[in-house]
Amino acid sequence: MGRIKLEESMIYRGHLILVNAAHPLRKEAGEERLMRLTSGTSEEGTGVRMALSAGKLLLHMLSEIDYKGQIVAASGYRTRREQAEIYEESLRQNGKEFTANYVALPDCSEHQTGLAVDLAERKEEIDPIRPDFPDHGICGIFRKRAPEFGFVERYPEGKKSWTRISPEPWHFRYVGFPHSVLMTERKLVLEEYVEFLKEFPIGTPPLVFPTEAGKIEISYLPISKRTGGEAFLTPPEKDPFQISGNNRDGLILTVWRGC
Ligand code: DAL
Ligand code: ZN
Repeated sequence: MGRIKLEESMIYRGHLILVNAAHPLRKEAGEERLMRLTSGTSEEGTGVRMALSAGKLLLHMLSEIDYKGQIVAASGYRTRREQAEIYEESLRQNGKEFTANYVALPDCSEHQTGLAVDLAERKEEIDPIRPDFPDHGICGIFRKRAPEFGFVERYPEGKKSWTRISPEPWHFRYVGFPHSVLMTERKLVLEEYVEFLKEFPIGTPPLVFPTEAGKIEISYLPISKRTGGEAFLTPPEKDPFQISGNNRDGLILTVWRGC
């Protein structure tokens, strides 16, 4: 494969996009292919949907940890309209401060990407905004093993200065492996991780994640007016790779070497 041109619109798509109040979802993000979480988590007929890539891994993980129906997906993909309704309803019911802490503005919610899911411990009553997802039992096992499957707890304790959202132990975001493990090991939220990856611009030594079979290399490709709104990449000949935007100023390249 020769050199390929990467367009600016790619910044706004992919599993590593940072979506928050300062970085709203862009139209260029396009529509994700969605799936219904039909097995396991939605036998209650809630019809919760997720992006295909993330949803399949969530179901795979639930079956791997033998969750026995004790974890329920309370909320997954939301349209802009649904997010706006949740926001307005929360303002009416819970007031401004609570809403600012726990509900993202329309277009600033990861739920609109289909890559986020709110999980709840199965019980009679599930709080739609702040479901219980404790640290013990099967929920604790899920939290501990989530990074192996590409998921991170997106709003952990002690990170509000970065995320602007209060701790949400129920909200998991798919960022893909090994980013999920790197973020968890280094205790970085997505705001920090996207910034950290800029230390590895393409053409300089990449961030290396060793694996049993080889290694995974991660690099950052800036795209800005300075680069003419585009970037060029000579993709690896044989090694598999993924490219995701960061919804800010560039792309993240992940290459599996000798795996
Ligand atoms: N609860 C998260 C912040 C959302 O509304 O997207
Ligand atoms: Zn959520």
